[in-house]
Amino acid sequence: MLATVFPNERPRRLRQSPAMRSLVRETTLSPSDLILPLFFHELLDTPRAVSTMPGVFQLPTSAAAEHARLARSMGLGGVLLFGLPRTKDASGSSAYDPNGPVPRAVAAMKEAVPELLVITDVCVDEYTEHGHCGILTPGPRGELQVDNDATLEVLAKAAIVHARAGADVVAPSDMMDGRVGAIRRALDGEGLSGVAILSYAVKYASSFYGPFREAADCAPKFGDRAGYQMDPANGREALREARLDEEEGADMLMVKPALPYLDVVARVRAASTLPLGAYNVSGEYAMIKAASAAGMIDERRAVIELLTSIRRAGADFVLTYHAVDAARWLG
Ligand code: PBG
Repeated sequence: MLATVFPNERPRRLRQSPAMRSLVRETTLSPSDLILPLFFHELLDTPRAVSTMPGVFQLPTSAAAEHARLARSMGLGGVLLFGLPRTKDASGSSAYDPNGPVPRAVAAMKEAVPELLVITDVCVDEYTEHGHCGILTPGPRGELQVDNDATLEVLAKAAIVHARAGADVVAPSDMMDGRVGAIRRALDGEGLSGVAILSYAVKYASSFYGPFREAADCAPKFGDRAGYQMDPANGREALREARLDEEEGADMLMVKPALPYLDVVARVRAASTLPLGAYNVSGEYAMIKAASAAGMIDERRAVIELLTSIRRAGADFVLTYHAVDAARWLG
């Protein structure tokens, strides 16, 4: 057995030249695989840097059109919008204000670049004063807990507002049970059956969202999100979440974060025929930025390698703050 393997088999033959490596490359990465997350702040007139995410800015809605043109010129797959509203309250009602930062930015982007794919994050944590992803209600011992079913109504209203503003895709990130079905029914009831749902189906309670919580001003004021986001120790449960969202009518699924969960990306890929995204989140971005700023890593090579790894694991597209840089490097 051993004798027939070497010297007959020499895998290095296929690594000899750029042309050969290119021919046998198994995974592709192109700008159209990348979705750029953007933060629109209702009260800003000029961009404000996010200190935890070098190169990322909170943007005024007046910058939306220009960013739509940037995304198009870089050949990106689309954009994902988050909003920072003027006012927050207990129930996150500004999440469904038709004049809020997300609907405004959506409308401006679709007007500037109608063919750009615009996705909106649907969640209430940026709009609630307590920073949780749902409406709170006193539990059996008086402690505040998230009211799953009451939250569904707010999510559905927000999705309708985003869709009416022109969003192609709404992406619920709250992890309430039943939200995909509730949003689907609400959209269909408003004649918006053409709007797709990208479900953050498999979203873990992760430390890697830390930098984002400054960018989106949505850190929970007490407690954590472990009562609704998934336990990082669980893999089988990812398949259950994916199946339920598919049955409720999700058009596309997402795993989040990406790099610490590539095994989960691969398992969901194998279990579902739906298009699959993975969110290369703020903490993953911040680590690369910090290491490259310290001269410890080659940012360009690291970013292309990690985005390729997410694609190799089975993601069709990647939501990433590196999107513009990566598109430039790929181009
Ligand atoms: C919730 C939401 C979060 C992220 C996307 N949507 C934060 C959270 O769940 O705490 C995190 C994205 C990132 O870290 O890049 N609306």
